[in-house]
Amino acid sequence: MSVDLDWDNLGFEYRDVACHIKYTWKDGAWDAGELVEDPYVKIHIAATSIHYGQAAFEGLKAFRGVDDKVRIFRPEENAQRMQKSSERVFMANISEEMFTDAVDRVVTANTDYIPPYGTDGALYIRPVLFGTGPRIGIQPADEYTFIVLVTPVGAYYKGGLNAVDAVIIEGYDRAASEGVGSVKLAGNYAASLMPASIAKAQGYPINLYLDSKEKRFIDEFGTSNFIALKGNSYVTPCSPSVLPSITNKSLMTLAEDMGMTVERRPVEVNELAEMDQVAACGTAVVMTPINAVMYKSELHKTSGEGIDERLQALYDRMTGIQYGREEDKFNWCKTLDI
Ligand code: PLP
Ligand code: COI
Repeated sequence: MSVDLDWDNLGFEYRDVACHIKYTWKDGAWDAGELVEDPYVKIHIAATSIHYGQAAFEGLKAFRGVDDKVRIFRPEENAQRMQKSSERVFMANISEEMFTDAVDRVVTANTDYIPPYGTDGALYIRPVLFGTGPRIGIQPADEYTFIVLVTPVGAYYKGGLNAVDAVIIEGYDRAASEGVGSVKLAGNYAASLMPASIAKAQGYPINLYLDSKEKRFIDEFGTSNFIALKGNSYVTPCSPSVLPSITNKSLMTLAEDMGMTVERRPVEVNELAEMDQVAACGTAVVMTPINAVMYKSELHKTSGEGIDERLQALYDRMTGIQYGREEDKFNWCKTLDI
C-alpha cells in the first residue's frame, strides 16, 4: 500500500487517484480507450450533455477481500442498466464486454487506492456516458465520451448498520410515472438536489419519494431503494418510476435463500408504521436502517428497538460475499488477482 489515506474515515467524498479510463465514440465506433491521469476533460461548448442532459451514470464497487483478492460486485448488471439508460436518451451503445473491460482496466490501474480489508471501505467505480458532440437544435449528439473513474469511499450515511431518520418532502417528485426514474440519468439527480437540501436543513440525511400520480405509494429514496421486513416477508415497491437496484435484486435473492417470502408490490405510505424494519439499500448506502419517517408533520416509527436480526443477517451475508468471507453461492463477484 503506497498511498497514505485515513482509510477508516473516508466518508463518501471524491478523491484524486492515479487515473481514469476514457473512450470516445466518433463516426459510429468506439476507440480502444486510454488511461488518463489528468482529471479534467475538454468538451465542446455545445455538447448535448451540458445543454440537454444527454448523460447517464452507474455506480458499483470493488472490495479488497479477507483473502487479499479484489472482488467487483456484479459489473455485468451495471453494464446492462447503462445500456437501458443510454437507449432511453439515444446515446451510443456500450457492449457489456467493453463496459466490464473498462472497469477491470481502471481498477487494476488504481489498486493502491482500494481500501485495505478491515476498514469497511471500497473502491467506488463510477462509469459515466455523455454526449460530447455539438448540437444547438434538440437532437442526439454525433460524438460520445465514456469515462470510468474510481475513488476510495467509506460509508455514505456514516457507519455500518447505524439507523437514520428519513423524511418525505411534500411538493417535489423524483420521477414522473412514465418518465425516466427507472434509468440512471444525470438529470434525475439534479432534480433531487433541492428536496434533499430541504431534508438536510430539517435534520434528515435521507428523503423518501412517493409515486408522483397519487402520492399514495412509496417509490424510493433519493439515493437508494426502499425495503422493509414485515413478518416473514421482504417487501419492496414495484413501481415503473423506481431505479431497479442491483443491491435490492441481490438482497431479494438472499432473502429467499434465507427462507423469507419476497413481496414486490405497490407499498402504501400508510403501511409504514406496520413494518418491523425499514431500510434503504444501494451501492453507495449499502444498507441503511430507517428508524422513522417524518410525513405530514408526524413521525412514523418504522423499526423496533435496535436492528432487526434479519436485516443484520442480510447485511452480514451481503458484505460477507463482497469481502470474500462467505461463499459466493450465486457467482456475483468478478475476482481480480491484483
Ligand atoms: N435508487 C437510486 C435513486 C439510486 O441512485 C441508486 C444508486 O445507484 C439505487 C436506487 C440503488 O441501486 P444499486 O443498488 O444498483 O446501486
Ligand atoms: C450509487 O449508489 O452508486 C449511486 O449512484 C447513488 C448516489 C447517491 C451516489
